[in-house]
Amino acid sequence: MLGLTAWLGSCQPLPEETAQISGKLYSIKEAFEIVATENDVARTLYTKAIVGAGKKNGLKFHEDWEKDEVEAGPLPALFLRGIAGDIRKKGEVPLGLFLGSDFPIRKSNKFTGKQAELFAEMRVDAEPKFFYDEENKLYTAMFPDFAVAAPCVNCHNDHPETTKTDWKLGDIQGATTWTYPGDSVSFEELQGIIMAYRNGAKATFQSYLDKVPSFTENEIPEIGSTWPAAGYQLPTPEVFVDSVGELASAETLKGILKL
Ligand code: HEC
Repeated sequence: MLGLTAWLGSCQPLPEETAQISGKLYSIKEAFEIVATENDVARTLYTKAIVGAGKKNGLKFHEDWEKDEVEAGPLPALFLRGIAGDIRKKGEVPLGLFLGSDFPIRKSNKFTGKQAELFAEMRVDAEPKFFYDEENKLYTAMFPDFAVAAPCVNCHNDHPETTKTDWKLGDIQGATTWTYPGDSVSFEELQGIIMAYRNGAKATFQSYLDKVPSFTENEIPEIGSTWPAAGYQLPTPEVFVDSVGELASAETLKGILKL
């Protein structure tokens, strides 16, 4: 089992000797729960350790971060959209990911139809929702997206296009919606889903770092093994994703072993 723990922490391909759990079937609900945990960890780490700490030390984050003239990194929601886009673009797993709300900043992020209905229920019971989307033939899961850090609340309340100005820490600000065409996955498919998510996080972080050398108005932050909390600097994508792996590994392992 050590092999599996090491894999989860290190984000490497699965070691041969753990093949005994191959063939184990996971319901899509179990698979969604595992990848949603990874996403919670990555999203919180990005918000607190990159955006929150980075801003204190002079780094900038902006919704138009992808424009050439904007010398900034992606906001948390756009970091997530980058991951969703990378998973879709690579097409290795048919996993869909979307971040929406009932009071979104961006109109296109407003839940509609069945998802709006279930999100209204989530507002009441704060529980994840699972359903089969008949129209698109996709198994669908929605997980609450909590305002886990002060920047979530402040930025949304102050945004010129916000549709709600009284968000509080701990509120459900929206939900992440995951979709998949099958009702169950093999261990290999589950591994593929986790890797697709982590690779998406790595690629999105890399596309931020790719912009950094072109900064002219701002100093170019140092990139290495240290985090913004320690100064005007950024970790490499490997350092970032390895931390996600380490922080998520206990929960992910529990999910994989169905404990
Ligand atoms: C510095 C500003 C900023 C911070 C910090 C921030 N957001 Fe956002 N958030 C935005 C913007 C801008 C959008 C719309 C992005 C888009 O779709 O173009 C957005 C989108 C979202 C959405 C999708 C619905 C919508 O409002 O459009 C959710 C849900 C969300 N954010 C929750 C959070 C949570 C939870 C946190 C903290 C973990 C957070 N945000 C941190 C600015 C911010």
